[in-house]
Amino acid sequence: MPNAGITGWGKCLPPAVLSNNDIATFMDTSDEWITTRTGIKERRIAHCSLTDMAEVAAKRALACAGIEGKDLDLIIMGTTTHDEQCPNQASGVQRRIPGAEGCGAMDVNTACTSFLYGLSTATAMIKTGAIKNALVIGGELISPFMDWNDRNVAVLFGDGCAAVVLQATDNDEGVQMERLGCYGESRGILQIHGMGGNYVHADRLIGVTEWQFEGQEIFKKAVSGMSMASEDVLRRAGKTAADVDICVPHQANLRIIEFVAKKAGIPMEKVYVSVERYGNMSAATVPVALCEAIEDGRVKPGSQLLMPAFGGGLTFCAHLVKWGNRSTPLGKSDAELAPQTRSALEIVQHYRKAKGHKVAF
Ligand code: UT7
Repeated sequence: MPNAGITGWGKCLPPAVLSNNDIATFMDTSDEWITTRTGIKERRIAHCSLTDMAEVAAKRALACAGIEGKDLDLIIMGTTTHDEQCPNQASGVQRRIPGAEGCGAMDVNTACTSFLYGLSTATAMIKTGAIKNALVIGGELISPFMDWNDRNVAVLFGDGCAAVVLQATDNDEGVQMERLGCYGESRGILQIHGMGGNYVHADRLIGVTEWQFEGQEIFKKAVSGMSMASEDVLRRAGKTAADVDICVPHQANLRIIEFVAKKAGIPMEKVYVSVERYGNMSAATVPVALCEAIEDGRVKPGSQLLMPAFGGGLTFCAHLVKWGNRSTPLGKSDAELAPQTRSALEIVQHYRKAKGHKVAF
């Protein structure tokens, strides 16, 4: 049975930066509160569509792997914030990649864990021989769906995207063990009202969102789910925390990351942290952190990676990945986003104006 090695990686972060102080200009919050409670200093706000970001990330990942669109058998797009509900997001990405016409294209929505659930799906399909080459993307355009009147959530999230290429190989690499899970009974503690069919016939405006977000409960479930899944994959793989070279966790809150690392027995020096620069980008968080950990030279040939995550649902998971024999790109793409013309604060003020009224759900 073949393995599924990660042979390409690419990220796309929108350039506009929204700092904590920017948010404090229109909301009762402060840099001090956000920094001490979450570790976040700034996040990105997209001036473009999710498809635009996914196209750039995908082209960079393909160039890194040294393959072309025609080589792809499957595109998986992990996201909760689709540009359109129908047609799906992955088909829109396929259309932007020359040569990819005709390959499979599917979306996975498990909120912040979507990229990792997609990684499992593509890996399993490569192992069965159903496909050979896959593109797995994690991306989110959260800012248009944010309730910019709610300080409990508005300070936490950001936009971004990243992609990896998976290829069939006989080498001992790729996902070695995973644990996928979901606390479905707690799904109501993280819910975005106003984004689905429930709201069509209820005199609600779709897109005018209100977040149900019980931060402290999510925090506890996040720590327990990520810790349990991490322990489970290490045990089943016959490994211990000492075998982990680098942990690339979901980044929602620095305090959550520190708790999970401590419970797993992994020192923070082995944990990749980027939450201070991007906030929580949901499905984009782990692949963006992975790309940057590789760029920073922290993922080396043969490295053992642990990637725990959680998200709405409440889904959780952990993946144990063995890196292959290459952590440098084979090629580089010249794909870029169109230039931005507005600041992050101007984009957010536009959303606030467009959705100025509060809707009770
Ligand atoms: O991928 C899934 C994403 N979700 C998460 O990761 C969320 C997990 N939860 C958390 O990260 C934390 O629970 C939060 C960062 C959301 C909140 O931190 P906390 O330490 O649990 O604060 P809290 O909810 O207990 O609120 C403490 C106080 C409250 O005021 P009172 O009632 O004590 O007067 C809040 O109203 O802080 C207030 N508060 C704020 N103050 C300034 C809440 N948000 C803000 C804010 N700025 N942005």
